[in-house]
Amino acid sequence: MKGILLAGGHGTRLNPATAVVSKQLLPVYDKPMIYYPLSTLMLAGIREILVISTPDALPAFRRLLGDGAGWGLDLQYAVQDQPRGLADAFRVGRDFLAGAPVMMILGDNVIYGGGLSAHLGRAAGRTEGATIFAYPVRDPERYGVVELGTDRRAVHIEEKPTQPRSNLAVAGLYAYGPDVVEVAAELTPSARGELEITDVNRHYLDQGTLDVEVLGRGIAWLDAGTHESLLDASAFVHSVQARQGLMIACPEEIAFRQGFISRDQLAVLARDLASNDYGAYVAALAEGASS
Ligand code: G1P
Repeated sequence: MKGILLAGGHGTRLNPATAVVSKQLLPVYDKPMIYYPLSTLMLAGIREILVISTPDALPAFRRLLGDGAGWGLDLQYAVQDQPRGLADAFRVGRDFLAGAPVMMILGDNVIYGGGLSAHLGRAAGRTEGATIFAYPVRDPERYGVVELGTDRRAVHIEEKPTQPRSNLAVAGLYAYGPDVVEVAAELTPSARGELEITDVNRHYLDQGTLDVEVLGRGIAWLDAGTHESLLDASAFVHSVQARQGLMIACPEEIAFRQGFISRDQLAVLARDLASNDYGAYVAALAEGASS
């Protein structure tokens, strides 16, 4: 399975913080926001990843992440010239995907917690149909909303409903079989003028091939889309890291633990990192001090 990391959009809700820098480059506590969704794809075992962004912002992502080789990844880049919606990623990524199944994550989605790897592993194993991830929230009207039937299968899915039929928001993480490229190509823009990922998901729902992984209590799906929620996300990451001494979304660590890179390669990365807590953490890991 290949990965798509979609980091487009104008982040106007975060202005003026995002006046000259894209939202997904803002820090969530100690690292750029994009590290978090990238880490999620890595935890799913995905190494070939296409980063999609705007013509303005793409060079900064490339400077930050490079070709990914240091983390045992193959990172590629593509421009979305107009904000045509999330499902447009499959048009932009068509050549990159070249018939492979795909996991897509949005560049502002921070997902963390116990049991996440099992959810990701199930989704990453799919070769056809679709998997979405649902999460109970207090404000479902801000998201895609899925309603489940008694057998825990999806019966209804809707984008930002004024009267949500459940409290289950659809997280910005999706897995699809290779036919998603054709499904997306058939879409027409919604009332807000976008190719909606919810319409892609509804296609699989109608086909009977939409699986829903419900992310439960042990998992945090954090919103970083407003000033306050970005601060809350930073505070959450800080609290957990300070208490446990374990990092959330440290790509160097995940690359090592997933076997993408060796301990020697990790030691090289540690040498290049600044002498702060982050660098010290990676150095300790390379020396075998961390469990
Ligand atoms: C998008 C999707 C929505 C999903 C959300 C998750 O919303 O359209 O279905 O629940 O991402 O972050 P947007 O961020 O475009 O408002």
